[in-house]
Amino acid sequence: MGQNMAGKWGAYALALAALAAGCASSGMAADAPADAPAPAAGAAMAPTPELVAEGQQVFAGAGGCGICHGNNAAGGAFGPDLTDDDWAWIDPASPNAMAELADLIRTGVTEPRISDTGMPPMGGRTLTDEQLSALAAYILSL
Ligand code: HEC
Repeated sequence: MGQNMAGKWGAYALALAALAAGCASSGMAADAPADAPAPAAGAAMAPTPELVAEGQQVFAGAGGCGICHGNNAAGGAFGPDLTDDDWAWIDPASPNAMAELADLIRTGVTEPRISDTGMPPMGGRTLTDEQLSALAAYILSL
């Protein structure tokens, strides 16, 4: 148990470090326009192009989402199309759409509304908050 926790938080710290490095190398902090809203600590992250690109990678890669939804998210044998305007769970027009999506991905779907099968929490993987935000940003961009 203690070992597991250490491993989990170690991976989390690594992910954070990688994220910070990404920001630094893209000059985000230095080049941000003065009138850009400051990111609120703890709030859902803004859907920047960097976050969308990260989400796309996680979707088709580490997240394993493509196994069911197709690597381009257009739907597969076990999961619905996420690129169309038909949503069973999400209101993409909601100001909280990012957070709603991240929550849904975190929780999965136990009682499917459109498919025959549900979706395991995080698609069956272990994902960080940042990866969940990235996935949400990516899916909203589709
Ligand atoms: C084992 C197959 C499977 C995997 C893996 C999977 N999903 Fe799903 N997902 C589903 C199914 C099935 C549904 C539809 C549930 C329903 O009918 O309500 C769904 C629904 C969704 C929805 C809601 C769509 C809507 O119309 O509101 C989102 C968003 C989503 N998945 C994202 C993801 C992401 C991101 C991942 C990767 C972390 C992922 N899924 C991995 C099977 C999967």
